[in-house]
Amino acid sequence: MAQPPPSLMDKIVSLCKRRGFIFQASEIYGGIANTYDYGPLGVELKRRVKDAWWSRVVTQRKDVVGLDSAILQNPRVWEVSGHVGGFADPLIDCKVCKARFRADKLEDARCPDKPSKKPGEHHCELTEPRSFNLMFKTNVGPVEETGNTVYLRPETAQGIFLNFLNVMQSARLKPPFGIAQIGKSFRNEITPGNFVFRMLEFEQAEMEYFVPPDENDRWYDYWRQERLQWYVDLGIDPDKLRLREHEKDELSHYSTATADVEYEYPFGWGELEGIACRTDFDLKAHSEASGTDLIYFDPQTRERYTPYVIEPAGGIDRMALTFLIDAYDEEELEKENGEKEIRVVLRFHPRIAPTTVGVFPLVKKDGMPEKAAELEEELRIAGFTTFYDEKGAIGRRYRRQDEVGTPYCVTVDGDTLSGGVVTVRERDSMEQTTVKVADLRAHLEGALRNWKRPERVAPAGA
Ligand code: GAP
Repeated sequence: MAQPPPSLMDKIVSLCKRRGFIFQASEIYGGIANTYDYGPLGVELKRRVKDAWWSRVVTQRKDVVGLDSAILQNPRVWEVSGHVGGFADPLIDCKVCKARFRADKLEDARCPDKPSKKPGEHHCELTEPRSFNLMFKTNVGPVEETGNTVYLRPETAQGIFLNFLNVMQSARLKPPFGIAQIGKSFRNEITPGNFVFRMLEFEQAEMEYFVPPDENDRWYDYWRQERLQWYVDLGIDPDKLRLREHEKDELSHYSTATADVEYEYPFGWGELEGIACRTDFDLKAHSEASGTDLIYFDPQTRERYTPYVIEPAGGIDRMALTFLIDAYDEEELEKENGEKEIRVVLRFHPRIAPTTVGVFPLVKKDGMPEKAAELEEELRIAGFTTFYDEKGAIGRRYRRQDEVGTPYCVTVDGDTLSGGVVTVRERDSMEQTTVKVADLRAHLEGALRNWKRPERVAPAGA
């Protein structure tokens, strides 16, 4: 029987493994559900996403500072934040196949014994829904007792609220100001993962922006637009992005309004990032429970209030997946002999691409490898992320770099040795330009700065 063509997600998962972006965690032991490891190119991709987020949200602003708080906190934190009582999914078990489903996602679930059927349609015996807390528990110290229970944080935000006074006082800040952090969070998710879209452990990039209460609406509007624009500026297709306001019954226990930046994934529209109005919920709750007043007080004017909070909160892994999906393109080319071939290319924004410049000798002789290695080192020391390759035909080397999204390749040939020029080949147009070696750095810097998202058609299998 003919196999159906691979879906876009299948192609991306396979490219990620083949080229070293993302691997199944514990693969040689059969894996572990919804858990992944990042390979050499995946680490670079994530690092670029984090740098771009940090640069835009923290470094380029004078009103936001950074923090790196602990993953384990006093367990009271999670009682007071509402996570012990309220951070739960309604779950249904099947007594026959032992599978567990989210009651609110039953329509999308499949019976593991018979994937053509939904839960309840096969030999299933489903339980009533019951509440299942998403926090992972562990113990501090050598003895397992209830008093020793601690939680792996399910969001980085609480560490920011706990340090509100420390940061405001040490950095001498006055609202409006923000505290940002990037770090791991953990959730005992049971829904299907869609690759790194939903995982058990993942990195969050969160910022709590503390404002005078009467400025809440203005800053909510500002941060919704600003966060959406960040994705557009990094080359994501604006037609696949939208802002969606939450219905009242979708809001988290701490929020009076939330908008999601959504992306149109191959599996449908999904949340990429949320921008929430958290009001004074967290600061007030921790003030009451700890006895420490988490308020802003100006000794000169005697002004005193609990700030409101606007929170842009995104997942780094989900951002990396979105950049991968959005960048994936297939182009049909005609070879010299008239045959057709498919060029797979990741059209990353150069700031996101794991490697920025590939450097190749045209052939492995006549001093070309030595000259190419010298140029590669110069570019690397100047701050470009480079990749040197001398193996195989030049066309295949270009294709290998297209497939991992390297925006520029530099080729050293006979003219380099005799005339001091190299060929710079551009990923998106495949255009080749002759550039003097002395001008190479400036040429690449200009090209990277002026990069524009190319027009394209959707890849097959999308
Ligand atoms: N502090 C607010 C908060 O945590 P959230 O909507 O639950 O809000 C924020 O999470 C972002 O974290 C999401 O928009 C998503 O990008 C990412 N995220 C949440 N759960 C995730 C998971 N299980 N796997 C990967 N990313 C996740």
